Amino acid sequence: MRILAVESSCDDTSVALMEGRGTQVRVLKETARSQIDIHALYGGVVPEVAARAHAEVMVPLLAHIFSKRNPPDVIAVTVGPGLVTSLVVGIEAVRVLSALTGIPLIAVNHIEGHVYSNWIQEKARRGTPIKFPALCLVVSGGHTELILMKDHLRYKKIGATRDDAAGEAFDKVAKLLGLEYPGGPKIAARAARGRRDAVRLPRPMLTHHSYEFSFAGLKTAALYYIQDNPALTKPKSKKLRADFCASFEQAIVDVLVTKTIRAAQQYSVKSVLLSGGVAGNVHLRESLDNTIKKNLSNVTYHVPPIKYCMDNAAMIGAAGYFKARAKKFTRWEKIQADPQWEIK
Ligand code: KG4
Ligand code: ZN
Repeated sequence: MRILAVESSCDDTSVALMEGRGTQVRVLKETARSQIDIHALYGGVVPEVAARAHAEVMVPLLAHIFSKRNPPDVIAVTVGPGLVTSLVVGIEAVRVLSALTGIPLIAVNHIEGHVYSNWIQEKARRGTPIKFPALCLVVSGGHTELILMKDHLRYKKIGATRDDAAGEAFDKVAKLLGLEYPGGPKIAARAARGRRDAVRLPRPMLTHHSYEFSFAGLKTAALYYIQDNPALTKPKSKKLRADFCASFEQAIVDVLVTKTIRAAQQYSVKSVLLSGGVAGNVHLRESLDNTIKKNLSNVTYHVPPIKYCMDNAAMIGAAGYFKARAKKFTRWEKIQADPQWEIK
């Protein structure tokens, strides 16, 4: 089965053509346009600016991937969660395409897409396929969620953030340090050269028995620390900044890894999956891997290549493939944006 996939929920426009067979989904062709340079000027994503930028490139990107002679079997599109003004650009484009060609549509949840990024080319780190029950930690700019999967498309959210998402905390603290949006990779680059125990920062909800997260308190503690140590905002204070970034990154990684391991043990999962933009963080990827090896026997660990951790259409196509196998289609007359759509 060939799936044309479209993602435009936030600040990246991407279109991919995927091929699914059995439990394998691979990328045949993909293209994307990032808006990072535009939003860096404003220090974050401005919805109207994002929507306009999506609209400018959507049809050219689709035209590049779509072949009239060899059309896809289904079209998958992100319908939420995300910025409504961004979502509608992708949805309206595929609505027209479906109405004119008769190709069925699949509505994909963006978080579901991040979960399924782990199935792209199914490259399990330890050479084994993903097994159920599986636990997926989705960490992005807008979400921090622990999702239990009993089988394909069967989700149970067991924890989420009460306030800021992990990526949001990275971005906000980076801004306080004078670093451009998106701040996560910039903090990570500095953290690699710093001491992880240099600055004492809180680990919110670490010992709390639930699987909920909270990063607003950590962000505030970071704000006070930066206010008390203004040298941190000076780019030339390289050592100070590296130590602070390493300590901040460690606080986030400690909370994410500890809660994930605890949930994996409680639910006796067979696979642990990591995904979302923050899964591009090398320290998080490695810490989770090492902690699983130390504490969980017979549990496989899966994380997509960094490219597929960031928002992309291939992950929407991967989720779309499994939804198409389950015949979960939506008519072109009915498909609509659902900006608050939550996986339950
Ligand atoms: O999944 P994503 O591309 O978009 C959303 O759905 O939000 O995630 C973007 C987020 C941003 O907050 C960005 O700062 C963060 O992922 N991020 C990172 C890293 N790379 C991206 N955070 C920490 N370390 C990284 N290496
Ligand atoms: Zn995302």
